[in-house]
Amino acid sequence: MWKTGTQTVFGEPVGRPGPGPRVMLVGEQPGDQEDREGRPFVGPSGRLLDEALEEAGIDRSQVYVTNTVKHFKWTGDGKRRIHAKPNTTEVRACLPWLEAEIQVFRPDILVCLGATAAQALLGKDFRVTQQRGQPIPSAWAPVVVATVHPSSILRAPDPEARERQREAFVEDLRAVARLIR
Ligand code: URA
Repeated sequence: MWKTGTQTVFGEPVGRPGPGPRVMLVGEQPGDQEDREGRPFVGPSGRLLDEALEEAGIDRSQVYVTNTVKHFKWTGDGKRRIHAKPNTTEVRACLPWLEAEIQVFRPDILVCLGATAAQALLGKDFRVTQQRGQPIPSAWAPVVVATVHPSSILRAPDPEARERQREAFVEDLRAVARLIR
């Protein structure tokens, strides 16, 4: 994947966390825009995430945002690069980076955004649809929760479904915000 991606996209912020509980959000992999800019969640999913975090009362600058896989995997002719889901071998190959980020940042609350992150950290049988929003016992952090990936909301079939899914996502993030306060 490092051959097709422009650059490795690590998590951010990279600096020392401020006072208060440390929250880490883990997505799937950088998208087209993230690959070009070298920063996680700066494209359409990132905008949706930022707005949802704000609505839930969480400041993005308070949280560490990263991805399960650190390179953009895509198909297409290169002019239009279409996101391709990372397979289990690729997820496994990238896992040491995520483990290192978790060890350095030491989150109090770890939020898996979507199935790739949830299954990488909580096991392949984990089902986001059934267990979203519930604290999951895990050695990764004192509190681990999973919710949907923001890109799944962008793919909703119509505006009503999209709004419904967006509200459910904000509700999951509000539950995280309550743990912070
Ligand atoms: N989707 C992700 O999972 N991560 C990003 O950084 C961007 C889109």
